[in-house]
Amino acid sequence: MRELITKLSETHSLSVEEYEAIISNRNDENARFLRTLAVETRRRIYGNAVYVRGLIEISNICKNDCYYCGIRRSNSECERYRLTREEIMACSDEGYELGFRTFVLQGGEDSYFSDEILGRIVKDIKSHHPDCAITLSMGERSYESYKFLRECGADRYLLRHETANPEHYARLHPSAMSYENRIKCLRELRELGYQVGCGFMVGSPYQTARNLAEDLKFIEDFKPEMCGIGPFIPHKDTPFKDFPAGTAEMTCYLLSVIRLIHPPVLLPATTALGTINPIGREMGIMAGANVVMPNLSPVKVRKKYELYDNKICTGEESAQCRECLSNRMRKIGYEIVVDRGDAKRAL
Ligand code: SAM
Ligand code: FES
Repeated sequence: MRELITKLSETHSLSVEEYEAIISNRNDENARFLRTLAVETRRRIYGNAVYVRGLIEISNICKNDCYYCGIRRSNSECERYRLTREEIMACSDEGYELGFRTFVLQGGEDSYFSDEILGRIVKDIKSHHPDCAITLSMGERSYESYKFLRECGADRYLLRHETANPEHYARLHPSAMSYENRIKCLRELRELGYQVGCGFMVGSPYQTARNLAEDLKFIEDFKPEMCGIGPFIPHKDTPFKDFPAGTAEMTCYLLSVIRLIHPPVLLPATTALGTINPIGREMGIMAGANVVMPNLSPVKVRKKYELYDNKICTGEESAQCRECLSNRMRKIGYEIVVDRGDAKRAL
């Protein structure tokens, strides 16, 4: 394995079979070796900087019915909410004061957020805070919609591909959704000049080592500016409630691999990773991640944006995720930086 890992670190490319071998042979020794190379690679490009993105969960209303997701349309137990434009502006103003220079507006596919309404919000945030980047994570939309939102000032878009295998995709989603459309969206976003983020869940139902290898090959080919991966965690009111969760160990292992595949990628240590393990986000950074996404949503809605069971940072005590994460990062020798945190070039 050491040879294969060294090859990856030097050439940033392996065959699907080779990726599969790395995944199937995960053990502590290989993980340590990968981690060392990944951290070294990241340090060369980003030093010990960790970038922050303020996450604003603007709506949990969704027309889709993904089998894994707690805010899926069919979950009648989910108490729905939608933030007003004023509430979203207040979150971004507060975030700005706290030092955030990137805001991520994320939500279910809620038709209320038409191009006109969402575009106005993007424009307003941009005109209040011209030095900030805006990332949207609002699911699949038309080319025209993505184009309009880009013209309104959106800089980045996160749309996880979820799995690079069409059959696996079909086992995670109802037939109204397709792998082809997901990928089409990602390509269109790129064409429109967005910085694009893809990603997937680790340990999602029916996922095989081969599927994960296909995800890695997809990332190698697509070279996203950002890549969001986190463990799958079951939600009690979904069809996947009885499937086991993914592990922090495999997630961190893959974070290291992804750092070596595409050195300049912006790689978050996700909330799901912090949920599956109390020090998951620290483990993620120490495996090669370089982004954290503190929650900026009003505390009163946080519990309602429950994509999976026991999501962290949803209680009153977590009003200030920014401070909490700064302290956590400092303890492990990293500094949170205040700037837009655009992707750098590989050195
Ligand atoms: N609607 C937008 C979209 O589809 O891109 C953004 C919101 S969606 C809830 C954000 C991400 O949450 C999904 O891409 C998925 O990977 C992740 N997610 C959903 N349910 C999850 C679960 N049970 N465990 C872990 N991650 C989950
Ligand atoms: Fe939210 Fe620590 S990051 S409370």
